[in-house]
Order: sequence, then structure tokens, then C-alpha cells
Amino acid sequence: MKFYANLKCNHTRASFGDYAEILGGGLGGDDVCVFSPASAFINGLNFKLGAQNFYPCESGAFTGEIGRVHLDEFGIKNVLIGHSERREILGESEAFLRAKFDFAVKNGWEITYCIGENLGVFESKKTKEFLQNQLKNIDLGYENLVIAYEPIWAIGTGKSANTDEIAEILGFLATFTHAPLLYGGSVNAKNIAEICKISSCGGVLVGTASWDAHNFLNLISTAKS
Ligand code: PGA
Repeated sequence: MKFYANLKCNHTRASFGDYAEILGGGLGGDDVCVFSPASAFINGLNFKLGAQNFYPCESGAFTGEIGRVHLDEFGIKNVLIGHSERREILGESEAFLRAKFDFAVKNGWEITYCIGENLGVFESKKTKEFLQNQLKNIDLGYENLVIAYEPIWAIGTGKSANTDEIAEILGFLATFTHAPLLYGGSVNAKNIAEICKISSCGGVLVGTASWDAHNFLNLISTAKS
């Protein structure tokens, strides 16, 4: 089971240091990756550190961006691509996501590729078609690929998809990819155990409920109980 945390635009390097000490001290061989803000990257962690974002370059004239050399400095080999907040707020296009994907493949990084429908698509029952279309943008055969299904209407809203809905979608995705499948969107201590029991579920991508290290540890132990 993968327990992946998306800290989003939270934590400074100082607060992430405290976070890492608490989290690292409580883990027992779990597959944990924390996507921290780039300004909080630190070395010497006993869990995987991931990048929420990068520009597909080594380094260069890309004002405000970070490239491969910045990830290398912290040994980062896990990247998040396609998160709905980057698609919607930062305007990342399918073509740009593909460029990031190809660059990450070239570097052999583990890619957690996020897909998910908005409320309109969900209500018009077009979710499967929509997700299948989003996945046409990437190479599903990439060996270091993880797919995170995150319905946009469930992200940060406290309203997770229910387990039947998640099971149906993850089961559908499993028919055309061998990549581990994560669920994300308002995962919390109340729903994590049920979600992790779904047969095609390979883990979770947690936002809000991961921002406090004690909470995140509690989630992980609840999932395994
Ligand atoms: P949430 O965020 O857990 O706060 O819904 C999930 C995510 O955006 O990855």
C-alpha cells in the first residue's frame, strides 16, 4: 500500500523539518512519499521525498521554475504530474503535461500521474470516458508509473467519493493499466480503511489530512488496522 502525501503550498523548510522528524520516527517500512513544496526540500529522510512540480529542463532560463539539478540535489526521484490544481489554476495543458511526463521518463523518475473528473462530468455519468481520454496523453506501459484517481469535486471538499464509486473506477482503470492505482480526494481517518480494502486500490494520495505529521501517521495505522 502506498501512502502518498501532497503538502501543496504548506510548510516551510523549518516546519517540514519538524514534520519529517515526527513522521520518520513513526514509520515502519511503509511505502510513504511526501510531495513537499520545493522550498522545503531537505536531505536525509527515511521516506521518499517527492516534487509537486518541476520544469522539463536540466536548468536554464525558466524564471521561477525548478529543473532536474534542483531535484538531484535532494535525491528526488518521485514527481507529481497532472494534479488538477496545476491543470486548472496554473493552466498546464495536455501538451505541457506530456512534455513533463517524457522528461520524467527520460530520468527514470517514479511518476504519480493524477487524473479526475469535475462535478459536471461526474453528474453526466461520463467519468470513465473522460478518464480514459486523459490517460491517452501518457505511456501507460511506463514501468515507474503510479496513477492517482482524484475526482476534482472530492479534493479539499471533505466530500470523498464513496467506496462503490471508487471501486468501480479503479476496477475500470485496472482493465487497461498495470500501474498501481491510488485514490485521492478527502481521504481521512474515517474513510481510509474502507478505501484501502478495495481490491484494485494500491494506496492513497492524501492532501489536507496529511499536513499534520501525527494525523498522517494516524491515517497510515488506521488503514492497516
Ligand atoms: P485532499 O487533497 O485530501 O485535501 O482532498 C487531495 C489532493 O489534492 O491530492
